[in-house]
Amino acid sequence: MTKQEVDSLLRAAQPLIDLAIAEDIGPGDATSEAILAADAVLKGRIVAKSAGVIAGLPVAEAVFRRVHPDIEFIAHVDDGQEVVPGELVAEVRGPGRGLLAAERTALNFLQRMSGIATLTRRFVDAVACTSAAILDTRKTLPGYRVLDKYAVRMGGGLNHRMSLYDMILIKDNHIAAGGIIPAVARARTACPDLPIEVEVRSLDELCQALSITPSVERIMLDNMSLEEIRQAVSITAGRVPLEVSGNITLEGVAEAAATGVDYISVGALTHSVKALDLSMEVGRVEETSIPDLSSRVARLKSILGERLVILGHHYQRDEVIAFADFRGDSLKLARDATQTDAEFIVFCGVHFMAETAAILAKPGQHVLIPDATAGCYLADTATLEAVQAAWDVLETVFGDADAEFTPITYVNSSAALKAFCGRHNGVVCTSGNAAKVLDWALEQRPRVFFFPDQHLGRNTAKRMGIPLHEMLLWNVHYPPNPEAIRQARVILWPGACNVHQRFRPEHVAAVRERFPGVRVIVHPECKMEVVDLADDVGSTAHIIRQVEAAPPGTRWAIGTESRLVHRLQREHPEQLVISLADVPPFCRTMGQITLPKLAHVLEALAGGELVNEVCVEAETAHWARKALERMLELG
Ligand code: 13P
Ligand code: SF4
Repeated sequence: MTKQEVDSLLRAAQPLIDLAIAEDIGPGDATSEAILAADAVLKGRIVAKSAGVIAGLPVAEAVFRRVHPDIEFIAHVDDGQEVVPGELVAEVRGPGRGLLAAERTALNFLQRMSGIATLTRRFVDAVACTSAAILDTRKTLPGYRVLDKYAVRMGGGLNHRMSLYDMILIKDNHIAAGGIIPAVARARTACPDLPIEVEVRSLDELCQALSITPSVERIMLDNMSLEEIRQAVSITAGRVPLEVSGNITLEGVAEAAATGVDYISVGALTHSVKALDLSMEVGRVEETSIPDLSSRVARLKSILGERLVILGHHYQRDEVIAFADFRGDSLKLARDATQTDAEFIVFCGVHFMAETAAILAKPGQHVLIPDATAGCYLADTATLEAVQAAWDVLETVFGDADAEFTPITYVNSSAALKAFCGRHNGVVCTSGNAAKVLDWALEQRPRVFFFPDQHLGRNTAKRMGIPLHEMLLWNVHYPPNPEAIRQARVILWPGACNVHQRFRPEHVAAVRERFPGVRVIVHPECKMEVVDLADDVGSTAHIIRQVEAAPPGTRWAIGTESRLVHRLQREHPEQLVISLADVPPFCRTMGQITLPKLAHVLEALAGGELVNEVCVEAETAHWARKALERMLELG
């Protein structure tokens, strides 16, 4: 986020901080002043007790400094970053009485804002495979509007209007005074510069709102059923952006988004806040520090010697990637896995990557992962059952789907889907070789069924010259009609990555304005609208190569996971390297691989025990290997 954004947050927070300190400390903290020496210096660690998204670090820092200007505040994560239980969020050091007096108020701000960001992220993730964006409302805590809406942005949501003055929203109470069309006409005349949104409660009202010229900027579908929303999307046909509003729950939001609406506003983001569980441990530091753990891991590595190889993906934490013998994108790591003779391959990446290594491993090799629950949001968007159901539909339409389609699975998928491709003479691809694989696939059969990432499939096919009208986005709930299926050359599974989905076309325009001459480079998991505006697109390894080869003074805005972007900036101080997004997105599951977990796996190995071994059932592994080997043969 920009400095101006933090400044405006702090301007809004300042009176609230004053009020909160007056309320909590008043004339003084009786307990600390009675017990602690005036010159006592303390150290505190703010630690996450549950998983969530952090927001409000500048406000927490301002609270400590307002209580005592000598308190030092060191943030260990950024606002917008997801944390795992036990993760260090920030450290504070300084005058003990001030530190303890400020603790509660600082945590109250941080916990509330992080709670909003966490809930927002859950909603944003739930709709990541669709083109809908999550909006907040004016249902904020009185006085806290700027803070609440900042936290929503850190969660990945977008802000609806800030207040009554910056947008016209014509609701039923306004319409009651004379109908939609005259209400819009009056608003347009009175405030020609403000965007207008109209709330409609029936399809009839929708048609009235759509008949207005020039058209309104947005139409809100209030409390409509899913079926009505679907009809509204079809009637509107993209002429005016549609917003759904009214009692949208986390359980129901994905289905509402799948109707094709553009926005979903959720009052609960800010009116039903559950604070994120954070605490401050003062004085005692029980956890082993990173330097201690690092020397433990280094010692274990030397004990295990050539029996061990550690593979690390570029999105891993710095302290973890430091121990990787081979670092790479998923294509390179799949190749590295086939090259090593080490008895133990410890994979610092997400589960599908370790599973790929296990499928390709030689007899007697063991693949382990420091956290067996480190999955991949994108991989989880396609199950074997759902893909098989789609294949059955293709079978009905064409008679023999195997003769018509080459199935391609992105490597970010389960072993079962790789095996599906192996069984149907299909293939695996990665972001580094998708064009080559798609080319090969279309030489084998006239059509391709590409899963699970719609964006990688669409971006790659488009760059190869396949027109959009020859691509068909599958709908799991409502399979396309046979005619549409027959016209498609590339069928795309409706999956997406929740991290790359957060880059938006507006981000490209914003960085180009702020940093003239900036080169925008993005991962092909980003939406087509973002890729089309970028200067370059490629795998994580491609992105790194471009930055490494660029002359000093080059400016980069990068559309991929933020640990990689931050590392590139540190390794190339002679260039400017920033995230393309205003709130840099991190991959939560990649972050689950921590140094303590790596140390634990190595410690067990050194003691002769295999923990978190990744195994793939023999029949599945056999067919998955076929699809993977086909990919590796393609180079
Ligand atoms: P790469 O193959 O480019 O490393 O990408 C893997 C991934 O998971 C991207 O989100
Ligand atoms: Fe999966 Fe996205 Fe994370 Fe890559 S960034 S591992 S696709 S969730």
